Amino acid sequence: MRADIRVESLTHDYDAQVTALRGITTTVRQGERVAVIGPNGAGKTTLVQHFNGLARPTSGRVLVGGMDTAEHSISALAAEVGFVFQNPADQLHARTVAAEVRFGPRNLGHADDVVAAQVAAALAATGLTGLADAHPYHLAPAQRKLVAIASVLAMDTPVVVLDEPTTGQDAFALDVLSAVVEDLAGRGRTVIATTHDMDFCVENFDRVLLLTDGELIADGTPAEVFTDTDPQRLPQLFRLSGELGWGSRPTTVDEFVAGLAAGRAAAPPGCPVSLES
Ligand SMILES: Nc1ncnc2c1ncn2[C@@H]1O[C@H](COP(=O)(O)OP(=O)(O)OP(=O)(O)O)[C@@H](O)[C@H]1O
Ligand SMILES: [Mg+2]
Repeated sequence: MRADIRVESLTHDYDAQVTALRGITTTVRQGERVAVIGPNGAGKTTLVQHFNGLARPTSGRVLVGGMDTAEHSISALAAEVGFVFQNPADQLHARTVAAEVRFGPRNLGHADDVVAAQVAAALAATGLTGLADAHPYHLAPAQRKLVAIASVLAMDTPVVVLDEPTTGQDAFALDVLSAVVEDLAGRGRTVIATTHDMDFCVENFDRVLLLTDGELIADGTPAEVFTDTDPQRLPQLFRLSGELGWGSRPTTVDEFVAGLAAGRAAAPPGCPVSLES
């Protein structure tokens, strides 16, 4: 299983007026956890839709595990890249949660017992086991999003793309999402998520791609990418460690608490907060 994603000089025009991506080049290696961030309309969805063929390059190339996505159907790419839509309504169509989650692995041609095990695992991972017989449209929007995630987890693809999984989610669902990311990464799967939630981003991802107006303007660790001096746009952990004058940037609550316990030396008074470590 090695499904590196190579993006080479990718440009995408929706029409003559709208260029959504402008010459993006990057590689996501198998097993990485990558967050894609940027303002509304930056091109995040358009970029990740290229990973499973939902969008096709206007120019440039996208290769998944060596396959040029322009030369393969969405169904062929679906075995490599599972894709959870920003809006679950674009994805859900079955009458029960279980049927929805079963659809993907069955479509990939897995044996019945394998399908059953994958469905059970995906429902458990998303906290939906007790709702297996519910109609997806009778669920709250946040739960529908979890159904969409479960239906992709059940396909057990090498790469999982989550387009805005955090939008509208409550604290319980955010915990579920963090556990899902952790579990996927622990099993060597690539996880790529677009998100506007900076705390979710730094706490769950090792690498951040920052898009603005169709351009990839930063690509690195959270500490490298969050160099913006506007404190309102920083993850809370970075704001706190910056205010405390720490030179390093904790990305989890545990790291932050360990830093406090270690009694890190504060920066000299009046020293501007810098995010360079
Ligand atoms: N189907 C479409 N037809 C025409 N233009 C589109 C289409 N989809 C997106 N766009 C435009 O392409 C640009 C990038 O959109 P995209 O949805 O990729 O951004 P995004 O970063 O995912 O935004 P958001 O944070 O709102 O989800 C925007 O200018 C958007 O209006
Ligand atoms: Mg989007």
